[in-house]
Amino acid sequence: MNNNSAGELFAVGVGTGDSELLTLKAVRLLQQADVIAIPEKTLGKADSFAWQIVTGAVPEKDLTAECCFLHFPMTRDASVNVPAWRRAAQKIANFVAAGKRVVFVTEGDPSVFSTWAYIQEELSDIMPHLEPEIVPGITSITAIPSQTKIPLADGQERFCVVPATYGMECLTRLVVEFDTIMLIKAGRVIPELTAMLEDMGLLECATYVSHATMDKQEIYHDLRDVPAGHRYFSMVQLSIRSRRGILRGSLPNRERGLVKVSAV
Ligand SMILES: C[S@@+](CC[C@H](N)C(=O)[O-])C[C@H]1O[C@@H](n2cnc3c(N)ncnc32)[C@H](O)[C@@H]1O
Repeated sequence: MNNNSAGELFAVGVGTGDSELLTLKAVRLLQQADVIAIPEKTLGKADSFAWQIVTGAVPEKDLTAECCFLHFPMTRDASVNVPAWRRAAQKIANFVAAGKRVVFVTEGDPSVFSTWAYIQEELSDIMPHLEPEIVPGITSITAIPSQTKIPLADGQERFCVVPATYGMECLTRLVVEFDTIMLIKAGRVIPELTAMLEDMGLLECATYVSHATMDKQEIYHDLRDVPAGHRYFSMVQLSIRSRRGILRGSLPNRERGLVKVSAV
């Protein structure tokens, strides 16, 4: 796994909130770690969501690892973010160079809109021979359908994931090409999204979920009912499902006239 450096590095997805969704492998790695590297967003305060998930599964007293909180500010400013990623990667690299077994934890899955992607890039500059192991976690992309109970896709259906904060301009094209569109990071744009879907005649296809798999989970089947105020952990599942049931031998919904999808 790690031929040219003394220590080891694991990027571990810890799932979407319910600590029982941590994998057995994640739990074992956390128990065996020398260092747990934990992202947090508020300087000086260890308020990491990933850490709450971890300690919900493995009580803090049972973890022997040193905790290393890594500060990632909530901003889109590259002049702030890039140095923060660099500093975090350097801290991790220092531990690995000292022979430590380091576990970087991240909410959901490391490959899905996670800071891990940036850390990995920075590490490839700092320690080009390091080969981190990436351990998948339950991602919000599958946690949301588990709560709406609307399948992401069956048979010949297609689904896609887009960040609502950036991807709205392509929505008119996506609703024609895909059966399910998962709008991640949707919290800030619910009013705009609601208006757009109303214009497209697709409002009834949308379900909003915040804090999926957590005690404070909320589900709204009508976006017009979503309370004002931004919830960071929120997502919209847009289920058009024009090709639903094709493998049953039934005609696609689109051909039966049950779904009218048009670009506005
Ligand atoms: C920075 S991304 C992290 C995604 C994460 N790595 C994953 O695999 O799900 C954060 C966004 O993921 C979505 N998200 C993550 N966990 C969620 C949850 N439990 N409920 C609803 N949305 C969630 C929200 O849209 C949130 O704005």
